[in-house]
Amino acid sequence: MTRLPQHIAIIMDGNGRWAKLHGKKRSDGHFAGAQALFDTMVAACNLGIKYTTVYAFSTENWNRPDEEVEGLMSLLFAKLDINVFMDNDVRFCVIGNTSRLPQDVQERMNYCLEQSANNKRGTLTVALSYSSKWEIIEATKKIARRVKEGTLRVEDIDDKTIDASLNTSFLPDPDLLIRTGGELRLSNYLLWQCAYTELYFCDTFWPDFNEEELCKAIYDYQQRERRFGKTSEQVTVDAGQQDSKQE
Ligand code: FPP
Repeated sequence: MTRLPQHIAIIMDGNGRWAKLHGKKRSDGHFAGAQALFDTMVAACNLGIKYTTVYAFSTENWNRPDEEVEGLMSLLFAKLDINVFMDNDVRFCVIGNTSRLPQDVQERMNYCLEQSANNKRGTLTVALSYSSKWEIIEATKKIARRVKEGTLRVEDIDDKTIDASLNTSFLPDPDLLIRTGGELRLSNYLLWQCAYTELYFCDTFWPDFNEEELCKAIYDYQQRERRFGKTSEQVTVDAGQQDSKQE
């Protein structure tokens, strides 16, 4: 239980392939994926992980066949159930261009955001109509406007300015990113925020992901040395100093 990641980001891939493997429709895969998401959220909270951020619908996913997009929107509407968040004391948050979502999904989402705002055990952030490039473009526009208004000097722009202008300004950077389904890429997800994130890829299709799979990913993370550009020796000295401060 030592060295737990504070923030886990997840790319929930392999729902369609899971459905095919079981002779089911792609929408059944997404339905099973939603259950795996809530089970994982509860498992992460039980382990003491404060933040979980999942990629549920990308900007590029709008280009999928109409039937699949409609199915995913109906699933969101059906599964965004406030009781799940209240029963588990989890705060629900969203990142992405949510103005593109259907009105009924936006209303349900806003209700969950408001009602769960003071929940304390964990935070589940769902990326909806999200892409990292879109987010960075929007942040750049915000910063450019501040410069134009005269409230920000160009020479004062640093990484904190960008952090604060992103949708994720309320989150620490992810410590661990998990991608299920066997693909080895980031797919336009949290590109700025994952600069020093540990990456974990597994072949398991998302609907089969569970507490045991989560523990495997965390155990793998715990074996790694996070150097943030420093040498291994420096990291060891830093860790020793941290330990003596805590004693
Ligand atoms: C990618 O896998 C995943 C998605 C496009 C959607 C994932 C959404 C969920 C699991 C449900 C989210 C529900 C809530 C309430 C937030 P894929 O379907 O493209 O899989 P494939 O690569 O096997 O085809």
